[in-house]
Amino acid sequence: MAKARSTYRCAECGSEGPQWTGRCAGCGAWNTIVEERTAPAPAGRTVSTPSRALPIGDVESEGWEPRPVGLGELDRVLGGGLVAGSVTLVGGEPGIGKSTLLLQALAAMARRGTTCLLACAEESAQQVRMRGARLGALEPNLWLVAETDLSAILAHAGELRPDVLVVDSIQTVFDPDLASAPGSVGQVRECAHRLVRAAKDANRATVLVGHVTKEGALAGPRVLEHVVDTVLSFEGERHHALRLLRAVKHRFGPTSELGLFEMTDDGLVGVPDPGRLFLADRQAFAPGSVVVPTLEGHRPLVVEMQALVAKSPLNMPRRSVQGLDPGRLAMVTAVLETRLKVVLTGADIYALAVGGVKVVEPGADLAIALALVSSVTQTALPADMVACGEIGLCGELRQVGQTGRRLAEAARLGFRRAVVPASAPAPPAGFEVLRASTLVEALALAGLHLGTKPVGFPRAIPA
Ligand code: TYD
Ligand code: MG
Repeated sequence: MAKARSTYRCAECGSEGPQWTGRCAGCGAWNTIVEERTAPAPAGRTVSTPSRALPIGDVESEGWEPRPVGLGELDRVLGGGLVAGSVTLVGGEPGIGKSTLLLQALAAMARRGTTCLLACAEESAQQVRMRGARLGALEPNLWLVAETDLSAILAHAGELRPDVLVVDSIQTVFDPDLASAPGSVGQVRECAHRLVRAAKDANRATVLVGHVTKEGALAGPRVLEHVVDTVLSFEGERHHALRLLRAVKHRFGPTSELGLFEMTDDGLVGVPDPGRLFLADRQAFAPGSVVVPTLEGHRPLVVEMQALVAKSPLNMPRRSVQGLDPGRLAMVTAVLETRLKVVLTGADIYALAVGGVKVVEPGADLAIALALVSSVTQTALPADMVACGEIGLCGELRQVGQTGRRLAEAARLGFRRAVVPASAPAPPAGFEVLRASTLVEALALAGLHLGTKPVGFPRAIPA
């Protein structure tokens, strides 16, 4: 009999090698290579069900319509709902709320008469029931099994014939027939393959939960991305209630939609109008606060950016950034120093996007620059003003995509004017645009006057 053989595979990207290495040659990640033992395929394998080639127009297209889940924000991201026979992976850090989201989704579907099976491989059935009671999820059509053996889960699914199967999580189920250890990449990948095959055979929508850890300690769901139809990513800051759901890959719809939820004591609540959430506690006349109409995929979000610039007692002044790209902050401060003589080398800078949202697009550059200068000069911007635009290295302002949608959302939330790049399109009716081709012009239009002398905080101890 042929012997089982060892291969070494990266837990992040899935690339294979003949020996263990400290760093993956495929993706460059460190300490992600794990041993995998595979039994050889039996000899003399034949194709059991031969496939048939058809003219493309004759291929069956029925049954690929999404079926709404009943949670508005989830349906928005899925492009309408779950498709029968499709496999969706929901990834996110532990504790972010994946199990809560899926329990609520299954309850919503069960309420509409869909038979759902939740295979729970992490928590006991009692634990899930207790959580379900709190979330109002005790629906007769929602079935529950606490099981880690994949064959048993598939047997239960074969018996119950649910329309939707959720496996929570793919890292904790295992196939005892495989030589590799539970949780290893080989197990995760093989289990996912079996679930995908079963989903297609039974035409059953299947959702897999996958933990992503920063350290990559568990097999990362990235090895699964190729296998499934849809990958959703559930994100958020642990200390904020806001949760963002995005489609990273979607074979049945766009990947540009964003779903927003708030984690409450009664579970996740959809946030259909995020404007009020982000601006709720805003101090309109505070120096260092600038509102930016940003875009997350296709969804406009009007977010407050804040900067606090203070004289630093440190040799290496502090740069504290939350919800922004530190690289873009560094670029904006460099442009302010070199082109506008706003000296920040001796200043601590705190900059953040309010509300637990991440604003990393270049369109937020102008708002960051205005917030910094507003803090340095202790001058507030007008309360009804927003700003968006990308800053070039020469201090010029560049157009950002979909300005119209951004400004329409700002107008809806009560803002009346915007500082924008000179080439920006016409604004919505009743909304004023202040066009600037450079950062210098933009500062003047926002009422921030620098004068001719350098301002800011030079280094106390010359370098
Ligand atoms: P959970 O869904 O278990 O996260 P994951 O499956 O991604 O690991 O959610 C965990 C957190 O959510 C937990 O810290 C408690 C919080 N939570 C609430 O705040 N409200 C609720 O109604 C529920 C069910 C959970
Ligand atoms: Mg969980």
